[in-house]
This record gives sequence, C-alpha cells and structure tokens, in this order.
Amino acid sequence: MLAFVRQALKDIHHTGSVWPSSPQLAKVMTRNLRAAHGPRRVLEVGPGTGPFTKHILKTLRKGDEFHLVEISNEFCEHLERELLGPFRTRRTGADVHLHCAPIEKAPLTGVFDFIVCGLPFNNFPPTLVRSILNRLMTLLREGGELAYFEYAGVRAMKAPFVNPNGRERLRRIDALGKSLRRKHSGRREFVLGNLPPAFAVRLTGGKRA
Ligand SMILES: C[S@@+](CC[C@H](N)C(=O)[O-])C[C@H]1O[C@@H](n2cnc3c(N)ncnc32)[C@H](O)[C@@H]1O
Repeated sequence: MLAFVRQALKDIHHTGSVWPSSPQLAKVMTRNLRAAHGPRRVLEVGPGTGPFTKHILKTLRKGDEFHLVEISNEFCEHLERELLGPFRTRRTGADVHLHCAPIEKAPLTGVFDFIVCGLPFNNFPPTLVRSILNRLMTLLREGGELAYFEYAGVRAMKAPFVNPNGRERLRRIDALGKSLRRKHSGRREFVLGNLPPAFAVRLTGGKRA
C-alpha cells in the first residue's frame, strides 16, 4: 500500500489512483482466467504493486506463460522482490517474464488467452488509448478475454474540473470504450467493494487476419 501511495505522489499521471485495487476487484478481474484449464498465455499490463498479479500467480501451472508489462521502475522492483522472485523459487514449471517498459514498446510476440489491464485510460490522450487498446486486441487470441477496469462515474466526476478540451478528451475516451464493447461483445460488471467503486470491462478477441 505505502509503495503505491509513494509512486502515486511521484507520478499520478501514470498511476491514475492513490490506492491499489481491492481484493474484490482483483477477484472479478481474474475470475475467468482462474476458471480456465490447460496451458495459458496470460498478459498483465500495469500491475502496479500487484493486487491482480497475486491472484494470477496462484493459478499458474506447469506450461503456463505469464508476461507482465509495467512502466515504473519502482513498481518493477517491488513486483520482483515481493511476488515474482518468491514465485520463481517454488519451481512450478510456469514461465514468468517482467517487461519494465511502456506497453506501447514492450517486446511481446504471439497471442494471449487472457489480458488483464490496469492502465488509467482516463488520464491518457484518446489517440494513445486507441493505439494501446488496438495493440491489446491484436495480442488477444480469437475467443480470448481482455479485462480492464474504470472507476464508476469517473468521467462525470472529472468533467466539472477540466476545461472544454479536457471534457472533449473524456468524451472521446468514453465513445471509444462504447465502440469497443459493441464490436467485441463487451460486458461491464459493477464492483462496489473498491475505492472508488469500479466497472470491470471484458472484451472478447475477434477473428485474426
Ligand atoms: C491504476 S494503476 C493500477 C495498478 C494495479 N493494477 C491496481 O489495480 O492496483 C496503473 C498502473 O499502470 C502503470 N502504467 C501506466 N502507464 C503505463 C504504460 N504505458 N505501460 C505500462 N504500464 C503503465 C502504472 O505505473 C501503474 O502501475
């Protein structure tokens, strides 16, 4: 918790929140991947201090591959020390790779069965949100699941405090989310037990070219 607050004070633009996500939100975000069998390729984007990572690590079995992409060096060090290092000593036969890089540049290849994304999209320019979400959908196998979350009412709450350009930015991000949900069988699930309450959004991977 303290590591998260420290980083949020240093870089709220990328952190997007002052608290890490709650265990309730983590359970909802990882529910389908926890229920899936067989070797899985899993990608987590923006793990922070790892509230979702903890749940993902618990499900990993021999043959699974797990990639994490995190932009902050401090969070990468924290993840390695607290979660990934201890996981590797258990020798489960699952492969875990931490990419300390922005998702826009991370060297990822192949497709993933599950992508769990914790990025604060409402802080980013719409063009960046679009290019990141496009990249994630390209990395998702057909029928696979991309889960991301957004704080409930965040755009309505922010709107009075931003200038007209800011409001237009939030409107475009909202429209982009709606269009992706229509195109990729999107579902939203409300999670009250998070500060602030949040929607988990799930998109399904489409046919690959
Ligand atoms: C809202 S926090 C979520 C952290 C954690 N998943 C949680 O739910 O508590 C956003 C995270 O995304 C990371 N991040 C922001 N922009 C990123 C980018 N372009 N590529 C990778 N990680 C990024 C931040 O450093 C931070 O860890």
